[in-house]
Amino acid sequence: MSTEKFYITTPIYYVNDTPHIGHAYTTILADVLSRYHRMLGVPTWFLTGTDEHGQKVQRAAEKAGTTPQEHADRTVVHFQTLWKKLLITNDDFIRTTEPRHRQVVQKILQNLYDRGEIYQAEYDGWYCVACERFYTEKDLQEGKCPQAGCGRAVEKIKERNYFFRMSKYQAWLIDYIQTHPRFILPEFRRNETLGFLRKALGDLCISRPKTRLSWGIELPFDRDFVTYVWFDALVNYISAVGYLSDEQTFRKWWPASCHLIGKDILTTHTVYWPIMLKAMELPMPETIVAHGWWLAGRDKMSKSSGNVVNPIDFVDRYGVDAFRYFLIAEMALGQDAVFTEAAFVRRYNADLANDLGNLLSRVMKLLATRCGGVIPERGAVGPEEEGLRQTVQSAGAKVAEFARALRPDLAVAEIIAAVREVNRYFEKRQPWALAQQKRDTELRTVLFTAVEALRIISGLMQPVMPSRMQQLRKALGFGEDAVSFTELRQWGLTEPGTAISPMLSLFPRIATDRGAKEIAELSSRDTTPEEKQMTTIEFADFEKVQLRTARVISAERVEGTDKLLKLQIEIGIEKRQIVAGIAQYYRPEDLIGRTVVVVANLKPAKIRGVESNGMLLAASTGSELRLVTVDGEIASGAMVK
Ligand code: MSP
Repeated sequence: MSTEKFYITTPIYYVNDTPHIGHAYTTILADVLSRYHRMLGVPTWFLTGTDEHGQKVQRAAEKAGTTPQEHADRTVVHFQTLWKKLLITNDDFIRTTEPRHRQVVQKILQNLYDRGEIYQAEYDGWYCVACERFYTEKDLQEGKCPQAGCGRAVEKIKERNYFFRMSKYQAWLIDYIQTHPRFILPEFRRNETLGFLRKALGDLCISRPKTRLSWGIELPFDRDFVTYVWFDALVNYISAVGYLSDEQTFRKWWPASCHLIGKDILTTHTVYWPIMLKAMELPMPETIVAHGWWLAGRDKMSKSSGNVVNPIDFVDRYGVDAFRYFLIAEMALGQDAVFTEAAFVRRYNADLANDLGNLLSRVMKLLATRCGGVIPERGAVGPEEEGLRQTVQSAGAKVAEFARALRPDLAVAEIIAAVREVNRYFEKRQPWALAQQKRDTELRTVLFTAVEALRIISGLMQPVMPSRMQQLRKALGFGEDAVSFTELRQWGLTEPGTAISPMLSLFPRIATDRGAKEIAELSSRDTTPEEKQMTTIEFADFEKVQLRTARVISAERVEGTDKLLKLQIEIGIEKRQIVAGIAQYYRPEDLIGRTVVVVANLKPAKIRGVESNGMLLAASTGSELRLVTVDGEIASGAMVK
């Protein structure tokens, strides 16, 4: 009997404020991974919830003029409603104020106290309320909170407190991390934790005197204190699955297969938590995956910075499936990503409207007009069909692998690549021409093959876009049962003769002229209206334009605009600065080292006050933009003719 199971968790979110895109991202990621594992036939348990104690929540409640519990009861609804709207399929939702959690935290504390793992001492140090973390004098950075992205003022605290003997497990933890390469992912985060562990680890202060903070779980052995919010919160991962209350359930799910977290809470999850578990003599979670941040420009998106994207606005405007797709596809797991509406629209139009949406409407149109609205017989299969079958089936196998490797971002890229292959197959087989030439048997083969590819592709994409893919599957008559990888591995399951639904437009194009406007703005510099109207030019005119290859040395955003990038380029031995309206299409770091083509003899101009000496060439349709580059290696400064 297989003992394989998949228990995945998200961080439990603070209820001091309403959810934003960062919270939505982690939860969608966990949802997509859960859905893939269910499709793999692996028993799955997906836990999320809210972190309701601590100073942050107490202060938010005071500000709102209410009690912490009332504040939590009100805010938790925002999370629960959003998860419904985002089609999140969590199996449980834990709130740390629930008795089932409180009781377990107290039992653990009592047990650790009885075994001498917790002791009382004087605490003298600094505290950051925003991070709910203690720091020693030397931890601070210029007297402020050292946490990346925080840097807020800290408070001096001197008081008697209870401490957990964390330091004595330091050597054990280092060894554990070193001998378990998949314990912390990605690898550079694992190295970050090992780097953190190079400094001597102190014991962890796990209490707060009620005189200072009353909103927390009371210490069972000293009623004058409440539990430090992180010690309380981390326990949710075991209290929710029955630790010390339902041994059978606990044995079924623990250890967790994957704790998904953002990089901001790496230390608490990869240092405090493993040591707490070790002291409790419990097995370690299999993997802790830390993802990057969604940024607004260069800064982390967070409520306190006032630069957050409200997920509900986006879902209302563009639909839940496209929103989920964008978040998964756009962020390389582990790296930071920038969230802009322009990037969203670009990806939506390219991947969903053009590639997937067009493919579906082409297939449905031909089925309706040429096959009487039913799926045709497979017919005779040639090398093109065989090639496509292999591509789609291998995409299916890779998606399963990526899901197991916890890389849904790569899975999605694989599926979209397969969609493009089906479009290419269409281009090659030209079903429209086949229809005109009345080559009906071949036409049917092409359509059957495309439908079969869509059956597999829509199944593979279902965890990411559950609602739209279900619509697609229904429209093509694939049945509405839950999809499994077993059926997606097989080719030819589409039933000829099945009636399809009327035309379906799943991803209507989002109209946008932003990109086009920006390029037009740039390319219209120094041109007269007469020049713009010219349709043909003399060769001598063309010769006036000096096009050269250039290498990008560095790139950065132009402050105060979300469209312009300032590039330092090299044309041969000459160095120049160019301003280009491509910030919505390219990240600065992706341009460095690339060879581009520039108009080298354009009169210098100032764009938004920034000197630009030359112009980059790019192809644009209005919503998409791609830089013109050269086909292979060539020196910078080469003439382009
Ligand atoms: N309550 C703690 C976690 C306790 S877990 C035992 C906490 N809560 S939080 O509300 O601040 O949520 C933090 C998590 O939200 C991050 O780890 C990440 O998963 C997500 N995000 C919040 N802002 C984010 C971005 N800007 N970008 C991506 N995700 C981030 O910390």
